[in-house]
Amino acid sequence: MNAALDLRILTTPQELFAAAAEEVVHAATEAVVQRGRFTIALSGGSTPKSLYTLLATNARNAVPWEHTFFFWGDERYVPPTDPESNYRMVEESMLSKVPVPAGNVFRVAAESPDAAAAAESYEQTLKTFFTLEGGQFPRFDLILLGMGPDGHCASLFPASAGLQEKSRLVIANWVEKFKTSRITFTLPVLNAARCVAFLVSGTYKASALRAVLESDAPGEQYPSKLVRPTDGRLIWLVDRAAASELTGKA
Ligand code: 6PG
Repeated sequence: MNAALDLRILTTPQELFAAAAEEVVHAATEAVVQRGRFTIALSGGSTPKSLYTLLATNARNAVPWEHTFFFWGDERYVPPTDPESNYRMVEESMLSKVPVPAGNVFRVAAESPDAAAAAESYEQTLKTFFTLEGGQFPRFDLILLGMGPDGHCASLFPASAGLQEKSRLVIANWVEKFKTSRITFTLPVLNAARCVAFLVSGTYKASALRAVLESDAPGEQYPSKLVRPTDGRLIWLVDRAAASELTGKA
């Protein structure tokens, strides 16, 4: 049974990031108590940077860094030193400032000369870490996602081949509009999570958010619609600007 929608509209971006930090701390605490570790897949892009900064400052003492294991839901096909790198953004805004063991951080080796090889290697990293057998998907405690103004999430863009993937965990998905591949989790991995939390801020995302939450447009057109955890929670943390076109039908 797919997850019920938990839509939270926060007045300002600051309140959005504070609510997101609370959700991360709550999920982390619960996971460590119940399973001894917290597995989180991070989102890239610009929106979550303020959340990562908050976790490294105000919420720093509430996060069980030693028991937290970091992964990336997607990565740009660039080296970790590149300004476009999602790993670099997270390293600079959070990981370099907190006591997380280096062995707890699993970045995508996007400097690889072959994007498909980088995806395969990251897939193997997931299989080993989660001790998966054939056909199994990793069950992350929390996956953070952003949403693009076109309704994409992770690097699953509208009408891209990656949306059809049913068995792989990580793929190199060709993104026509950027004329490059992106390394990304597939939908089965996103939908196997215990909890998925979307962070969406800004007026320029309002029409996509309405289309995702309130329209019957196909998921092929708005991939964020296809994220419905099979046995987990789905949380939408949005600010008032992003929610400005919602009619309450969600
Ligand atoms: C990335 C992301 C991507 C992002 C959206 C929203 O690598 O870019 O993982 O899915 O979440 O593009 O990006 P912004 O937060 O920058 O609007």
